[in-house]
Amino acid sequence: MTAIVPIQQGTLQLAAMHLRGGGLVAMPTETVYGLACNAANPDAVVRLYEAKGRPRFNPLIAHVASMEMAEQEAVFSPLAREIAAKFWPGPLTMVLPVASTGTVSDIARAGLDTIALRMPAHPGARALIETFGKPLVAPSANRSGHISPTTAQHVKEDLDGKVDLILDGGPCERGIESTIVSFVGEHPVLLRAGALETSVLNDALGGTLAVRGDEDGISAPGQLKSHYAPNARVRLDAEAPEPGEGWLAFGETPWPGLNLSETGDLREAAKTLFAALRTLDASHDRIAVAPVPNDGLGEAINDRLARAAHRD
Ligand code: TXA
Ligand code: MG
Repeated sequence: MTAIVPIQQGTLQLAAMHLRGGGLVAMPTETVYGLACNAANPDAVVRLYEAKGRPRFNPLIAHVASMEMAEQEAVFSPLAREIAAKFWPGPLTMVLPVASTGTVSDIARAGLDTIALRMPAHPGARALIETFGKPLVAPSANRSGHISPTTAQHVKEDLDGKVDLILDGGPCERGIESTIVSFVGEHPVLLRAGALETSVLNDALGGTLAVRGDEDGISAPGQLKSHYAPNARVRLDAEAPEPGEGWLAFGETPWPGLNLSETGDLREAAKTLFAALRTLDASHDRIAVAPVPNDGLGEAINDRLARAAHRD
C-alpha cells in the first residue's frame, strides 16, 4: 500500500529522503501527476521504467526549478532562452542538446544526445525539486499506455505498491500533458501538442514553428499511436450514444452521460478529459465521444482522444 499524503514541510522532507535513497515519488504538476526519481541515479531510473512498464527506448522529461539548473543540463540557444523566459514555469517541455555539465543519467535520456527539460509551475512540484535540490525525471504517473493521472487517487489506482509515496496536490489545473518542442535543429519543431496552445507558441516564435514530419527524423519516441488507452472501445465524433455506450459529451447534449464542458469551454474540457475517460471506462465496455473542435486546446484534446481510440 502506498500512502497518499498532503504537501507539507514534513512530507516534502520524507519525499526527498525517498528520492535520495533511489525511491519513486509521485508529485502533482499543473499538467498531470508525474512519477519522480533522482535523474542522476541510473538504478532509480530503471526502477521507474519498471514500475510503469515503460519501454526503455522512451526517454523521460527532466524537471527543474530554476534556469541555473536548466543551463547545467542543456545548451540553450538565444531563441530557446527567450522562449524559456516567456513560458517557464509552465506546461512547455523543451528538447535541447545535452550540456557537457549535464547530470541526468544516460538511461533516462534513452541514450540520446538531447534532453527534454521542463520547469513546472505547480507549487508542489517546485517545492519537491527545490527540497531535493537537483533535477527530477518524471513521466506521467500511470501504467505505460494507460490514461494519464490528474488526481492522487488516479496514481494509486495505477501504481499502488510500486511507488514509495504519493504527494497530493489536488486535481491538476491543466489536465493534459505539456507541449513538447525541439530546439535541436535549425527551426523549432512541435513534437507533441499539449497544454500550451500551439498558436500561442508559434506567435512567440514569429511563426517559425514546424510540425513534426515523419520524414525529418525528429520525433518524441514515446508518441505511440495507441496510448492514453482505456479498456473500453472508444468511438470518436459520435452524434449520439448507441445503446450500451457510455456518453462523453462536449457542449449542450440531450443524452445522459459525462460532459467535458457543458459550455463548450476547451480549457475546462482539457481539465476534465482524463478523469472522465477513467470514470466511463470503469462502468462501460464502449464509450462514444462527441466531436471536439480542433482549434486551440482542441488540438491536444483530439490528439489524446485519437490515441485512446486507436487499436493496434
Ligand atoms: O506534462 C508533462 O509533460 C508530464 C508531467 C509529469 O511533466 N510528463 C509527461 O511525461 O507527459 P511522459 O514521459 O509521459 O512524456 C514525455 C514525452 C515522451 O513522448 C518522450 O518520448 C518525449 O517526452 N521525450 C523525452 N525526451 C525526449 C528527447 N530527448 N527527444 C524527443 N522526445 C523526448
Ligand atoms: Mg505519459
